[in-house]
Amino acid sequence: MKILEINYINFRNLIDRNLKFSPKINLFLGKNGQGKTSIIEAVYFGATGKSFRTSKNPDMIKYGKNKVGCFIEYEDRINQKNLSVKIDSQKKEYSFNRKKVPYDEFYGKVNVISFIPEDIELIVGSPSIRRKFFDGEISQGNEEYFKNLKEYTKLLKIRNKYLKEKNYKNEMFQIYQEEFIKYGVKIIKKRIEYIKNISIILNLNYRKLFDNKKELSLKYSSFLGEIKKIDTDYLENLFREKIKEEFFREIKYGYSNVGPQKDDFLFLLEEKEAKSFSSQGEKKSIIFSLKLSEIDMILKEKRESPIFLIDDVSSYFDSIRKENILDYLKKREIQVIITSTETMNIGAKIFSVKSGEVYEDN
Ligand SMILES: Nc1ncnc2c1ncn2[C@@H]1O[C@H](COP(=O)(O)OP(=O)(O)O)[C@@H](O)[C@H]1O
Ligand SMILES: [Mg+2]
Repeated sequence: MKILEINYINFRNLIDRNLKFSPKINLFLGKNGQGKTSIIEAVYFGATGKSFRTSKNPDMIKYGKNKVGCFIEYEDRINQKNLSVKIDSQKKEYSFNRKKVPYDEFYGKVNVISFIPEDIELIVGSPSIRRKFFDGEISQGNEEYFKNLKEYTKLLKIRNKYLKEKNYKNEMFQIYQEEFIKYGVKIIKKRIEYIKNISIILNLNYRKLFDNKKELSLKYSSFLGEIKKIDTDYLENLFREKIKEEFFREIKYGYSNVGPQKDDFLFLLEEKEAKSFSSQGEKKSIIFSLKLSEIDMILKEKRESPIFLIDDVSSYFDSIRKENILDYLKKREIQVIITSTETMNIGAKIFSVKSGEVYEDN
């Protein structure tokens, strides 16, 4: 999949314009504070309707304005299509091929993988960051998971409401709870399957690019404790057991203490948790390898390669790591949009960014 062009209007400090991308590597050069990150954020926004920098949408609106918009023309295996998203005084609107659509129909059409320095939070941050990330990634390649997750979240809210209002003797509570278990198990099963697959690819990528002497793996850590087999009945029973154990606490505090919204994902380098034992450089390399593995996973699930957005590669990696990364990108059939403060020899289409203005250099 390739993004052919983007139009952005009132996006942060960027001066409105239309940019045509190369199907291979695009390099945005500029000093700090010029608008490089904003460019790839605009691409991300156009493709996903979200930002990787903020959960507060209005942050993306240019100071002093009240709306922001992005339009993306792209091409997949079949033909050329377009997406657009705009925010106008808090209201968000999505379109696909110039027709207004709900978010569910917008999401996942264009797949992007972003790598930004803040992604290190995926290792050092709280479990909720990892859940949000992996849920998003699994959803990108799997619409059913996206739907199940929405359903589960709804059921969790309902269950919490019953618990809070001490309504758990109501017969509807049992009915909802069985649905809650059913959907919870669907989520857990898909996450385990995904983690098992990506863990293998992650290790290969890490060893190939960064350190062929170490073993990297990803583990799913569930509120269910040790999971002996990936079988629906077994998992549902385990879930029911957990509810029995936790129920008095749940009633006392008035919310659910069980379910996949409690689970975590662990990065293990040489069997040791990266969060506590790996160096800064290793952590960065792990995250970069993770992003490459996401690309491989999307390619596998959707038979389309996503667009890879990489922010600030020059200040983030030392020169050896940077060389390895660039070598790797040159070899792959994938569209890349990359920003840097220093020029790089990678045969890219080069743009320069100065005070929000973008110039095409070739
Ligand atoms: N909503 C906004 N409207 C206008 N300018 C903004 C907005 N948000 C951030 N900026 C400014 O945009 C500039 C460019 O930011 P950024 O894209 O992060 O630069 P770079 O990645 O090149 O260092 C910064 O100076 C920042 O203050
Ligand atoms: Mg930046």
